[in-house]
Parts: sequence; structure tokens; C-alpha cells
Amino acid sequence: MADAVGAEHTFFSTCGSSLSVKSAMLAVAGPHEKLLVGRDAHKAVVSGLILSGIRPIWVTPQWDPDRHLAHPPSAEAFEAAFAEHPDAKGALVTTPTPYGTCSDLAAIAQVCHRRGRPLIVDEAWGAHLPFHPDLPTWAMDAGADVCVTSVHKMGSGLEQGSVFHLQGDLIEPEVLKSREDLLGTTSPSVLLYAALDGWRRQMVEHGRALYDDALALAASLRTRIAGIDGMHVHGRDDFCGPGRAADMDPLQIIVDITSLGTTGYRAATGCANTTRSTCICATTAGSAPS
Ligand SMILES: Cc1ncc(COP(=O)(O)O)c(C=O)c1O
Repeated sequence: MADAVGAEHTFFSTCGSSLSVKSAMLAVAGPHEKLLVGRDAHKAVVSGLILSGIRPIWVTPQWDPDRHLAHPPSAEAFEAAFAEHPDAKGALVTTPTPYGTCSDLAAIAQVCHRRGRPLIVDEAWGAHLPFHPDLPTWAMDAGADVCVTSVHKMGSGLEQGSVFHLQGDLIEPEVLKSREDLLGTTSPSVLLYAALDGWRRQMVEHGRALYDDALALAASLRTRIAGIDGMHVHGRDDFCGPGRAADMDPLQIIVDITSLGTTGYRAATGCANTTRSTCICATTAGSAPS
């Protein structure tokens, strides 16, 4: 898997990214030590903080008041947090968001590395990124130290299949492995390992062609939905730019129906995902469309 994506070390989890991200956190900080954490973190991160006793220094995301959604925190916000807490052991950022919007990871990695601190990226929504050049830059290419991915989200793994990657010399592979060992089951599912390996093979052999198709499908879907009265498909003009995200994954299709005078909850009746208020969301890769 490490060869397939171009990482130095890769680890597998059969307990989802929920376990992977906790393993990464425990490899960077211990009880009462500080970790800078983007406040738009998943509950797996929060439970990792509770279990480990790591002290979070929250870094505020970039809030879009018009669309009522958060983009990942900026590099400047991490810089300011490190300036205030120079004893923080490292940083954790979630990118892409479930909306597919991405932080300026290279800049955040530089902020960390200037201080010799590691950057953990919760890239649960970005397992596919290494496999096509037209997708946003994935964490390892941007210079992150650890990158956590859920294969069951944007790949074709079984639920709970997660992979995490390591590079550089700020975290010892043995330490990361031992943290995974501390948390993981002693009877991992062979089905899950086989599915992870099957996905790896599929990506190496056919990833480029599959994502060529998915990107073309997403582009055509965006155009067709945008042609329907009252529906606005969010794109780079909405999500990217100063004070917002640095990039976005075009495979996450967010449709804003505010002008129809209804709510996302109503429009989503019968849809698995009812957590968004004025948007409905489709994904054209990996897991079943919602
Ligand atoms: C950003 C993020 N991180 C971590 C997780 C946990 O991943 P898993 O469900 O693979 O345990 C999720 C799950 O939705 C997530 O969205």
C-alpha cells in the first residue's frame, strides 16, 4: 500500500479511521501535553482527547457566514496558536471536510516543521486523492507527517477499513505501530484486510481510469443539476479563495436549494444524510450516493 500511494510506511486499521486518528494522536502527544486541533474535528478526535488526556488547543475553522459552513482552519491560525502555545507537541487538521473543501496543507505543514513539530492530517474523506492528478493534493505530497484515510468513504473498502500513512523522521514508525497495537483488536477481520488489499490493487491497476470516469460524471452531473431552476451547485467560486478553502474535491457535489424556500432536511427525505440544513449532497465516488 505504501508503494501504491508513495508513502514511507503504511498501517491498516480494521476499526475505522476512528482508531487510526487516535493512534496518530497518541504517537504525537501524551497526557496533559498540548496538541493544536482544528475545531471542526470528528468525534473520533474528541474521544481520542478524552481517552488520552491530551490537552487540545482549539484552532478555529474558517467560517462562511453566508452558507453556514466551516472550511478548515488557515495556516495563519495554526501559526498564531503555535505562537501562543510553543510547547504544543504538534497539530491535527481535518481536510478535506465532508463538503470536500481542503486546507492549504503545504502551508500548515511548514508552520509545524519550522518548529520541528509533526502534522497529523485527518484525511478520512480523501483516500482517493493519491490516485488522480486532477484531485486535490493529498496529505503526504503536501508534506504532512501522518495521514489517516477511511477507505470505506471515498474508496471501495468495506466499512471500518482504514489506512494511515507515515513519512519523515518526526514520528518513529515503531511508536505509531505500538499506539495502533494498544488500541486495536487482537482479532482483526481478514475480510477487511482482503478488501483493503483488493482496493489497493484496483487503484494501482485502474485508479486513473476509474477516476477519469468519476470526474467526467461529476462534471456532467454538476452541469445538469445547475440547469434545474432553484438549484445552485457549489463550486470553487463559492468555496475557494481568501478566508475560505484552498481547494475542493469536485467529486463532492453540494447542491444549495435555499432559493426554493424549502430546507435540506425536507428535500433529503428518504435520503440517508439528513444532517445538512440547506444543502443536499451527492458523492460520485466510492460509497453509495446519499
Ligand atoms: C473527518 C472524519 N474523521 C474520522 C472519521 C472516523 O472514520 P471511521 O468511520 O472510518 O471510523 C470520520 C467518519 O465519518 C470522519 O468524517
